[in-house]
Amino acid sequence: MDTFVDSPVLAGHWYAVARSSEVSPGPAKVTLLGSDYVVWRDPDGQLTAAPDRCPHREAPLSAGWVTDGCVVCPYHGFTFETGGRCVRVPSSPEGSKIPPKAHLSTVHVTDRYGLVWICPGEPTVGIPDIPQELDDSYRRINNPVEVWQTSATRMVDNFLDISHFPFVHTGTFGEGTETVVPKIELEELPDGFYGYAYDVTVNNPQSASAASAAKATTKVLTRHMSSGFILPFVCRSTIRYETGMDHILLLLSTPVDDVTSYFTFVVWRNDDFSAPADEIVAFDRAIGAEDKAMLEQLDGVLPFDQQATVSVQSDKPSVEWRRRFVKLLAGD
Ligand code: FES
Ligand code: CO
Repeated sequence: MDTFVDSPVLAGHWYAVARSSEVSPGPAKVTLLGSDYVVWRDPDGQLTAAPDRCPHREAPLSAGWVTDGCVVCPYHGFTFETGGRCVRVPSSPEGSKIPPKAHLSTVHVTDRYGLVWICPGEPTVGIPDIPQELDDSYRRINNPVEVWQTSATRMVDNFLDISHFPFVHTGTFGEGTETVVPKIELEELPDGFYGYAYDVTVNNPQSASAASAAKATTKVLTRHMSSGFILPFVCRSTIRYETGMDHILLLLSTPVDDVTSYFTFVVWRNDDFSAPADEIVAFDRAIGAEDKAMLEQLDGVLPFDQQATVSVQSDKPSVEWRRRFVKLLAGD
């Protein structure tokens, strides 16, 4: 089986590992690219992340607690402040020198889009920019971080693939939809994404749900959509309705290890903010559950060798993602 978690290149990227609200103050345990980290927050809101292993006898710090902004090891009480410096060894008399090796080696951590992001190495790129985050006419809707028993490589492959809609998404929007996928032209999309843009004409049923272009009165609606990726594992789908409303979905896959992943998605929407957030994302969540149920039946990592699987015309976006991903791993 192909493996990617030890790739030094991937260590230079940022990954969403938890909701910001879940680390308040923590300590939370997260696993990224095969390694465990402890993450906690001090009363000023400042995050610290470090390998989840106490320098004293290797107890998991995430099993400890946070007091006055410091994480306390549950085994012998070594105490670490924001930034990882060890500030207390309870067994040593007050004023004793703290061994330099008692301090934690921290990793980069930050909040963005309501999520905690970690970069385990030296960042070579930033977190993908979603300009709507700073636009007051949009609201952001966050969702839980779920664990999917599938490889992040298979998730991205799925998120860029529309030919599974009539088969996997029969419980949501896919029932009876056209199976033939029109020719796809790949292009640079705004904000650094790469993928494709297309128009979809849909019937607007009387019982239009909140998720489907509320308030439009025409029978037939055209939606301008796009789907794209930023390496390694970030996907974005955008939908612009005729009403001018945008529905932007950021789909985030984080490799826990080669074959286990965190999944969360973030929605931005410039609606009138009247519909409850839960109602707006209920449809997207149901779609995600259908993908999860399918992907968890697939074994291992998506083979890096394109010849190991058959690809057809509709796979163009995911084939291109795979080509670029393999190139990234090779350091090109
Ligand atoms: Fe953490 Fe001893 S193992 S204080
Ligand atoms: Co799907």
